[in-house]
Amino acid sequence: MLAYSELLPWVKESSATSLLHIWAGVFFIVIFPMYAWDHIRGHADRLRNITLVTASGILQFFTGLGLIISGIILFLYGADALDLPREIHLVLTFVLAVSLIMHKISRK
Ligand code: HEM
Ligand code: HEM
Repeated sequence: MLAYSELLPWVKESSATSLLHIWAGVFFIVIFPMYAWDHIRGHADRLRNITLVTASGILQFFTGLGLIISGIILFLYGADALDLPREIHLVLTFVLAVSLIMHKISRK
């Protein structure tokens, strides 16, 4: 919704979506590393052979980290102040979506 806020006037006008996103972001900062640590350790033996599952898994791991880092920068300095972290954060959103789909549909 934030990515397409130009097309969704009610998202642009209210700060509720932004606030909700920042709270979800705080949740993501805690849950994502915990889940990733446990999950990757559990499948560590698969990291040797590169398949669609491992490639998409590795990609979404780094994408998630990138979203956290750029998200914290946006949170601290404001989304309107810095263009580069904003662009990175937005691009990573789509990379994460694609890699999640690849991870889901890949043969396990
Ligand atoms: C932080 C990054 C990752 C996230 C968020 C993640 C998430 C998930 C999720 C939600 C599933 C269940 C998918 C389904 O039901 O079809 C899954 C399955 C799987 N993932 Fe990942 N994954 C990540 C990284 C990795 C990596 C790096 C590997 C390879 C070492 C990997 C290997 C697997 C395998 C083998 C399965 C199928 C077995 C299972 O369901 O436990 N994942 N992953
Ligand atoms: C799954 C992870 C995440 C996704 C998919 C995501 C997605 C997005 C998108 C699409 C935008 C709008 C960007 C734009 O229009 O330029 C945005 C903005 C923003 N994100 Fe994230 N984000 C994630 C994680 C985080 C995290 C972990 C934080 C840190 C708290 C964060 C903080 C922010 C902030 C501060 C903004 C500025 C816009 C606002 O005030 O609404 N994000 N995010």
